[in-house]
Amino acid sequence: MRIVLFAILVQACLLVVCDTDYTSIKGSNYFERPKDTSIADPYPFIIKEKYSKGLNFLAFGDWGQRGNATGQPQVAQGMKIWADKYKVDFLLNLGDSFYQDSGSTVPFNDTKDHEGVLSINDPKWKTYWLDEYGGNLRKIPWYSVAGNHDWYTNVTAEVDYFWDVDWRFFLPSLYYVRRVYFGPKNTCAVFIHIDTDPYYYNYTSYNSTNNLKKTLLQLKLNEVSEIKSRLKWIEDQLIKAQDADWIFVVGHHPLEGFCQLQSPNYYLMYLLPPVFKKYGVSAYFNGHSHELSYSAANSTSPVTYFCSGAGGATLGEGCGGVTWTAGTTFGFLYVNISDDGKDLYFEYVNCNQTNTPPKVLKSGNLKSRKYKS
Ligand SMILES: *[C@@H]1O[C@H](CO)[C@@H](O)[C@H](O)[C@H]1NC(C)=O
Ligand SMILES: *[C@@H]1O[C@H](CO)[C@@H](O)[C@H](O)[C@H]1NC(C)=O
Ligand SMILES: *[C@@H]1O[C@H](CO)[C@@H](O)[C@H](O)[C@H]1NC(C)=O
Ligand SMILES: *[C@@H]1O[C@H](CO)[C@@H](O)[C@H](O)[C@H]1NC(C)=O
Ligand SMILES: *[C@@H]1O[C@H](CO)[C@@H](O)[C@H](O)[C@H]1NC(C)=O
Ligand SMILES: *[C@@H]1O[C@H](CO)[C@@H](O)[C@H](O)[C@H]1NC(C)=O
Ligand SMILES: *[C@@H]1O[C@H](CO)[C@@H](O)[C@H](O)[C@H]1NC(C)=O
Ligand SMILES: *[C@@H]1O[C@H](CO)[C@@H](O)[C@H](O)[C@H]1NC(C)=O
Repeated sequence: MRIVLFAILVQACLLVVCDTDYTSIKGSNYFERPKDTSIADPYPFIIKEKYSKGLNFLAFGDWGQRGNATGQPQVAQGMKIWADKYKVDFLLNLGDSFYQDSGSTVPFNDTKDHEGVLSINDPKWKTYWLDEYGGNLRKIPWYSVAGNHDWYTNVTAEVDYFWDVDWRFFLPSLYYVRRVYFGPKNTCAVFIHIDTDPYYYNYTSYNSTNNLKKTLLQLKLNEVSEIKSRLKWIEDQLIKAQDADWIFVVGHHPLEGFCQLQSPNYYLMYLLPPVFKKYGVSAYFNGHSHELSYSAANSTSPVTYFCSGAGGATLGEGCGGVTWTAGTTFGFLYVNISDDGKDLYFEYVNCNQTNTPPKVLKSGNLKSRKYKS
């Protein structure tokens, strides 16, 4: 595996010269959980990674579901082929990792068929995740964010699972930052992983009986001032990332196309794009909308919005109002940044059928922040 993760440095350390203690983290919990913090507190350290060549990764969300018209196995199969062929470095898991069966009629927290996971010991960790994704997908880290279905039962268990069981389901907190150096020129890509649920669901008007509302309250993310303080944190990270060749933000909910407004609870999401635009974010990755689509950067916004929410849960109709959409199909997104760090190549891969090979539906290119015209 090409991955070598640096020892984690405190943010303050980045501002001064400090000796780096290189530690291989493969197969172990490699740093300690900060004491007296909540999962809603941004992870206080910047995670550093180094790769010798260009970056290769997959991005997908909305996957762990069984039942009628779901497609988890064929997407897993397609991703395995790509992950093995391109030796992908990691995967961006865009959330909604675990669902109830489609058409389920039992309560959200039924012990046998529930939303999300019940605990770190839930059998779904094995049956919906470990057993489904083979080959290289079983070796690489899954840099995760939480989606609404993860919140519906016990979102804390997903963070605990990272700390207590398997770091490959990478979720040290609901908010965290990675600084990724790659290629011979030590190109830098910053990934800011955020939880968009508090921006999407208005605590006051949200009245479903699952645990989302209760958990927002427990984490104090029912308070607009708290949500805005996370926005301030995102902005601070973007300011610190200004030296980077690439800046990526990773979240669950869509910000572009008609999907952004599909819910009456659209709420505080609108606060995010202006900040992304102001600080020159290269791309935002999201799921939630069960489709493959993207909105390209243009003369008024430098941000490309990649939606990859067709990982296996029952498909939506597609949203429209975007540059391109695959319509109703299962699949994933593959991203390849060149060794010299200048060019990002992406392709959306269709995995709709179990009996036909996955097929590239759409591909395109982006230029790094430093080489944008
Ligand atoms: C992806 O990147 C690698 C180098 O990191 C390169 O060898 C390969 O050809 C690229 N693949 C695609 C499909 O762009
Ligand atoms: C699910 O599939 C079963 C068997 O194919 C069928 O009998 C049932 O009506 C389907 N349910 C829904 C909600 O589509
Ligand atoms: C499921 O949730 C309901 C309502 O919140 C609660 O009364 C019940 O005890 C929960 N069941 C389990 C198995 O956690
Ligand atoms: C959530 O999962 C964690 C980790 O397994 C567990 O400690 C906690 O009791 C669970 N919470 C509920 C409400 O079941
Ligand atoms: C949240 O919902 C409440 C109750 O419906 C409403 O009064 C408030 O305006 C909503 N907040 C936002 C920012 O939409
Ligand atoms: C739940 O909220 C929706 C919209 O916010 C509202 O239309 C609906 O009447 C509410 N349901 C209950 C049971 O309060
Ligand atoms: C430019 O892109 C942004 C973000 O995708 C979009 O909201 C806006 O409508 C686009 N503007 C034009 C002129 O296409
Ligand atoms: C993909 O499969 C779904 C059902 O599994 C079907 O409704 C849809 O039309 C298919 N899309 C394509 C592009 O083949």
